Amino acid sequence: MRTKVAIIGSGPSGLLLGQLLTNAGIDNIILDRAGKDYILSRVRAGVLEEGTAGMLDFAGAGARMHAEGLPHDGFSLAFKGRDHRIDLFGLTGKRVMVYGQTELTYDLMDKREATGGKTIFDALNITPYDFSGDSPYLTYEKDGLTHRLDCDFIAGCDGYHGISRRSVPQQALKTFERVYPFGWLGILVDVPPVSHELIYANHPRGFALCSMRSETRSRYYIQCDLAEKINDWSDERFYDELRRRLPRNHAEVLVVGPSFEKSIAPLRSFVAEPMRFGALFLVGDAAHIVPPTGAKGLNLAASDVHYLFSGLAEHYTEHSSAGLDAYSSRALKRVWSAVRFSWSMTTMMHRFPDSGEFDQKIQEAELDYLVGSVAASSALAENYVGLPY
Ligand code: FAD
Ligand code: DHB
Repeated sequence: MRTKVAIIGSGPSGLLLGQLLTNAGIDNIILDRAGKDYILSRVRAGVLEEGTAGMLDFAGAGARMHAEGLPHDGFSLAFKGRDHRIDLFGLTGKRVMVYGQTELTYDLMDKREATGGKTIFDALNITPYDFSGDSPYLTYEKDGLTHRLDCDFIAGCDGYHGISRRSVPQQALKTFERVYPFGWLGILVDVPPVSHELIYANHPRGFALCSMRSETRSRYYIQCDLAEKINDWSDERFYDELRRRLPRNHAEVLVVGPSFEKSIAPLRSFVAEPMRFGALFLVGDAAHIVPPTGAKGLNLAASDVHYLFSGLAEHYTEHSSAGLDAYSSRALKRVWSAVRFSWSMTTMMHRFPDSGEFDQKIQEAELDYLVGSVAASSALAENYVGLPY
């Protein structure tokens, strides 16, 4: 079998890249080791930058997002028992879109099916070969048989635990990492959100985030120790802890209900450089991870796709390699901006195991400055809505 672009991974980055290529008439095949239902069962991101929403539109898959997504003009930073609104639209002229990653993934899968794009699910042991040479290909196993797929390029869109980055000779790769000493315990519940905008709360007991997926579905997170066990967290215990970390006006009106998803996510910052090895390109979480504070992971995956798609389109239509040659440096510049922003939001909002009252006071002073200064609020807002591509 042969295609122009073999895409490993049917998450948001693989699907978005695949759709843009299909729309441009560039032949591509997506392979994923998981099945469609499993991919759609993962609850992850919830906030899209305008650039990401624009990419979904450009792919022709944005209609449901516009109909059902919630445009947000601001969010709240809560600390010392009060909340302070960050007026994203007033400060930047831009807003974000609250629309779940699951929905975005579903819409892109739907569009792919409707436009005849080929996806091979449950493809095991996918292995890329010869991407430093002239004849890249990959092999995979399906239904007990080994298959070979020849291609011009391989897009590694297979997430942090995928095979693409691990296939690169380790001496060719430089990695940067910070692991944070806590996680996020998150629940999904069908009750109206505690507030119509997101609340990021700094509290001496730890960070909390009140987010949502719709006007009737809430997504709540609390910072937790990495050693915590999900089974020790009844819904009641979770809500008690969440209430403690929120300003009283919110805690008093929190509507509770039985959660239908509960999980603990570890937090890390990670970047692999470069993002290109001959014909193999790393895209999205395969190349970088950010802690979720600030909602940048999926949005970075979308900006990587923007740079890679324009490079591939240039290659096939103008026979120029300039865009592909610039991919890694263009993508990494924006990646590092988001890594810095997510790190600083995480550091400012969480309680660290070795931090005491002094550190809490420093965080509160920083937050006071942030909400009291138009310059500082604007810098936060500009990063939150997403830096330009
Ligand atoms: P993935 O979504 O990981 O997709 C990779 C795909 O590759 C998967 O389908 C997987 O099955 C497949 N795969 C893996 N290994 C292989 C293999 N060996 N062979 C074949 N296929 C393979 N980001 C935001 O922008 N905003 C948010 O609000 C936000 N909130 C988050 C909240 C939480 C709790 C978490 C955990 C993450 C959050 N993120 C957020 C991050 C976001 O979810 C990721 O950055 C995003 O999923 C990256 O997309 P991707 O397509 O690059 O990778
Ligand atoms: C969500 C996750 C985030 O990391 C964030 O900053 C905002 C929202 C969410 O899952 O809804």
